[in-house]
Amino acid sequence: MVCRYRNETEVNQHVPVLQDDLVDAVITDPDGIYLDATFGRGGHARALLKKLSSKASLVALDRDPDAFHAAVTLSREDSRVHAEHGVFGELGSILSGNQSDQLSGLMMDLGVSSPQLDDPARGFSFMRNGPLDMRMDPETGESAASWLNRVGFRELVAVLSELGDEKNARSIARSILNRRPLHTTGELVSAVNNARFRPDPRKHPATRVFQAVRMHINDELAELSRGIEAGFHHLVCGGRIGVLSFHSLEHAAVRKKFQALVRPLTPRRLPVRGTPSGRAVYVIKAKRPELSETSVNPRSRSALLQVVERIE
Ligand SMILES: C[S@@+](CC[C@H](N)C(=O)[O-])C[C@H]1O[C@@H](n2cnc3c(N)ncnc32)[C@H](O)[C@@H]1O
Repeated sequence: MVCRYRNETEVNQHVPVLQDDLVDAVITDPDGIYLDATFGRGGHARALLKKLSSKASLVALDRDPDAFHAAVTLSREDSRVHAEHGVFGELGSILSGNQSDQLSGLMMDLGVSSPQLDDPARGFSFMRNGPLDMRMDPETGESAASWLNRVGFRELVAVLSELGDEKNARSIARSILNRRPLHTTGELVSAVNNARFRPDPRKHPATRVFQAVRMHINDELAELSRGIEAGFHHLVCGGRIGVLSFHSLEHAAVRKKFQALVRPLTPRRLPVRGTPSGRAVYVIKAKRPELSETSVNPRSRSALLQVVERIE
């Protein structure tokens, strides 16, 4: 029997979530400089370009080599596009190098894309057997297999609990350690299935484990924080950042960064260490997709859009 779970789609084509809401919310100047920090296959980027003038430009960033190649292809078709391969943490140097450090708007659509999820060779999917990799950039950093085969019990429990909100973290971690070395996604799924716990019938038992390991391997929350900080630093006054997030940890991380920017006036007057300069107001505090979207694009069901505008 083929099981279909809500959180993994079967399509290879990436269907952009809340496309018009995100694009319309970040456009503040049709002639401006924009950044799509999560280009993927360019769904949001193309929609944005359609609404910008011929004087505008778009930096299309992704850490994934295939997504970067897709951005290079688009840059050959549209001279307004500048493709960049890198991570959020490198935004400062990428934008300065492009003479694009005065952004009118910035979009981030977090998580993995359908092409990443659907390619078994990338190791993101608990539905398709393949090498246990999970790196968004397979040329950089440590693979999931390498980390899982060396990590200690306590650190593994902490990652599964904190990044996967996995209540059965201890029993799953024990099962993983007992089955090492692991080389494939199928072996990780078996390790989870062999752990002693009562699974939630609505979710594949490995859902939270794959999310936690992927987030750890790609350092996703720290990257998000660095990306929002660097992006905000390069926004013009009146420029906007829109972020689409897909699970509670991401929602909370974006909210925390945005709330620090929309902070009350009085403490802003006092110098607070580590606080970025500038201030923002909310444009969209929390927008969810309509039923018309969630019924045709299952990936959109958990999406949340948050947008802020720089005011000083
Ligand atoms: C959900 S997809 C974006 C899809 C895109 N909006 C579209 O319409 O095709 C997320 C993309 O962000 C990239 N990504 C995730 N974290 C990143 C980071 N820290 N730096 C750069 N790219 C990142 C992933 O490689 C992936 O291609």
